[in-house]
Amino acid sequence: MGRPIILGIVGDSAAGKTTLTRGIAQVLGPENVTVICTDDYHRYDRQQRAEIGITALHPDCNHLDIMQQHLSLLRTGQPILKPVYSHKTGTFEPPQYIRPTKFVIIEGLLGYSTRVAREAYDVKVYLAPPEPLRAQWKVKRDTQKRGYTPEEVLAELEKREPDSESFIRPQRQWSDIVVSFYSPSDDVDDGNGHLNVRLVLRPTIPHPDFTSILNLTDGNSDSAIRLGLDRDMSKPVDVLEVDGHATLEQVSKLEHILCSDMPYLLNVCDREVNPELGKVAGTTGETLQSYPLALTQLIITYHMLKATQMYQ
Ligand code: G6P
Repeated sequence: MGRPIILGIVGDSAAGKTTLTRGIAQVLGPENVTVICTDDYHRYDRQQRAEIGITALHPDCNHLDIMQQHLSLLRTGQPILKPVYSHKTGTFEPPQYIRPTKFVIIEGLLGYSTRVAREAYDVKVYLAPPEPLRAQWKVKRDTQKRGYTPEEVLAELEKREPDSESFIRPQRQWSDIVVSFYSPSDDVDDGNGHLNVRLVLRPTIPHPDFTSILNLTDGNSDSAIRLGLDRDMSKPVDVLEVDGHATLEQVSKLEHILCSDMPYLLNVCDREVNPELGKVAGTTGETLQSYPLALTQLIITYHMLKATQMYQ
């Protein structure tokens, strides 16, 4: 086996990193995927952070030097002894010995913040939901899973905003793909699985040729799948938008483009073989299929497989 192929998923707290990571690991086969969360490289535990008055988003609050060393080791297929931060207790646990598998997904807050770290990735994704949607997701997660009250979460979001602006959001510029799920009607997620997605595709990696989508949409901005040119952080980019109400027939045309270039994806797209594709949990815990999420997973997987062909 050659070296592992490394995917980065970076974004602010509760931007959907873990959900996207889980979905892509599922598509690539969990046994082939090592997932690393860079929150484990926090320098201070929760209590120390409170005493010092620093947030987890600040580079000084993280061992970025060790993080980048570890990313470089993983890239060459070597094992690491990774620190472990417990979100449950807010303290550190014994380190974990990790040997990388065929694919490595690195998810976290500050994964693109140093040059050496950025060089470790084959594919760089940045998650950028609208801020009101991220706040909604953060309140939901932190109250349900991390024991905070809604007021505490909102106060924390406000306290962290300066660091989000200075250290998290600028990392968008280094990504190959910016993923933004957004609600078609308002700023929040009604939990019906119908969020749209906007994918910014930078020319930093070779994207599949989606131009036949242009015929599909016929320049009609009402279509459920749209491809256009735009600028992102002042650089020219392609933008692919997929609405939550797109039909399987419309989505299949896009999937066909991906599969004809990457036959491995044929099985992945087959919903009978892979019922997990694009799966999201609804408000009452039921399982919903989101075509925008499915296509996002497929496009990112396409790039992981392309990288495999290029380097192995
Ligand atoms: C954010 C991030 C976490 C990070 C945490 C530290 O919520 O999303 O992943 O580790 O900040 O804060 P904590 O709540 O654990 O003290």
